[in-house]
Amino acid sequence: MINAAIITSTLETVSERCGDPKGRIFARLYALDAKFEPLFVMDTDGGVRGSMLETSLNCMIGVAEGKSETPRLLIEAARMIHDGYGLTPAEVDLMFVAMRDVFREIMADDWTADVDAEWTALLDELATIGAAA
Ligand code: HEM
Repeated sequence: MINAAIITSTLETVSERCGDPKGRIFARLYALDAKFEPLFVMDTDGGVRGSMLETSLNCMIGVAEGKSETPRLLIEAARMIHDGYGLTPAEVDLMFVAMRDVFREIMADDWTADVDAEWTALLDELATIGAAA
């Protein structure tokens, strides 16, 4: 059981301290695997990346809260759709890893062991969703 209040509290602190972490999150994603950056060459205005980040964030919150099946279905669909961009189902999780890494940096000393445990539990859970697809 994930403590959704800790997850949403991290997200609130992050948005107070860093209005738009999008640039940092994608920089982190490309650092995790250089093959990702060229995939967005057609996304000249950043719109696709913005909408992808928003979907990913909503999926994180939705899975943490556990109130609806929709975020799970979206993640399953993302694993299949991204096959078309040459990503394995497991590579799709790197978006969540990049987000967590940047949130951890922004939180700095406020990223306590308790916060870390909840984010680890959330990423573990996200990784199980549709993983066999
Ligand atoms: C390593 C991780 C990921 C990479 C490299 C990646 C890459 C991409 C690319 C290249 C596109 C299409 C761009 C285009 O049509 O020009 C895309 C679209 C999309 N991705 Fe991802 N993706 C990743 C993870 C995720 C995750 C975790 C989610 C959500 C759970 C997600 C949701 C979406 C959605 C909803 C779109 C369609 C956006 C739109 O057209 O408005 N992606 N992704």
